[in-house]
Amino acid sequence: MSETHVASGKVREIYALDDERLLLVASDRISTFDVVLPTEIPDKGCVLTGLSGFWFARTREIVPNHLLALRDDGRSTECKRLEMLPIECVVRGYITGSGWKDYQATGEVCGHRLPEGLVESQQLPQPIFTPATKAQTGHDENITREQAAELVGRETFDTVERISLELYGFASEHARARGIVLADTKLEFGFDEKGELVLGDEAFTPDSSRFWPADEYEPGRPQPSFDKQYVRDYCESLGWGKTAPGPELPDGVVAGTRGRYVEAFERLTGIGFDDYLADPDVVLR
Ligand SMILES: Nc1ncnc2c1ncn2[C@@H]1O[C@H](COP(=O)(O)OP(=O)(O)OP(=O)(O)O)[C@@H](O)[C@H]1O
Ligand SMILES: [Mg+2]
Repeated sequence: MSETHVASGKVREIYALDDERLLLVASDRISTFDVVLPTEIPDKGCVLTGLSGFWFARTREIVPNHLLALRDDGRSTECKRLEMLPIECVVRGYITGSGWKDYQATGEVCGHRLPEGLVESQQLPQPIFTPATKAQTGHDENITREQAAELVGRETFDTVERISLELYGFASEHARARGIVLADTKLEFGFDEKGELVLGDEAFTPDSSRFWPADEYEPGRPQPSFDKQYVRDYCESLGWGKTAPGPELPDGVVAGTRGRYVEAFERLTGIGFDDYLADPDVVLR
């Protein structure tokens, strides 16, 4: 089978298998504040690929997705090539990150007026859909629902909002039963050749979501996490200006990050990470 390299994302390499199919290969690269760091996290790409496969196999009744097959290396996904929407579909169940910053400044997030007096990391009365632009270069920016509807059309907007909230509800309930709070998440959708809306990219991974240990959850402060937050916090502690080049990560931070990613995988899937590496298809069953 011939594979033509078509693009490099920050984390994934994209190859064309043929006109209809892509191969997404998740590397061990890690980016924080949209800068790829010089140090890799061993096995991270396999965690992302396996977790996405796990969720794709379990959410087909909510929305079709791009997954066709996982390869034996545990980091490569054969998928349907989609025409991706120019927005990132973010759902927030808790107020943190850029949502917390926006709320403190304006009392709103993406046009949602929120109750007064929320504290950092507090659960919202209900999950909200907070779209962002998909910046070609630089940082994604939060936009209002109206701006997003202008970018993708009203009907498509209404559909992705409804589906994103439904997917978040499904995944957050699953995660909560396994001791993990799914604080927020980012999804990407596209259209297939028949014009059908399909879930693409990755789903409910520690790169696209904030996962907090439920037993340590305490509103009013930042939360310990099973995701990139640990690396973000390390980078910020250095006083790094968040522009390239990013800092090298010391061995302890690499091991700590790898451990958090693998623990998120094992808790959420109930599958040993070594069992996944031995046979990636275990996450699809
Ligand atoms: N089924 C699909 N068809 C077409 N493109 C896809 C599909 N699934 C994911 N993509 C795109 O592939 C890329 C995945 O690579 P990666 O996540 O490393 O990139 P990124 O750093 O998030 O984004 P980018 O570099 O494009 O700004 C994303 O641009 C994503 O939108
Ligand atoms: Mg991405």
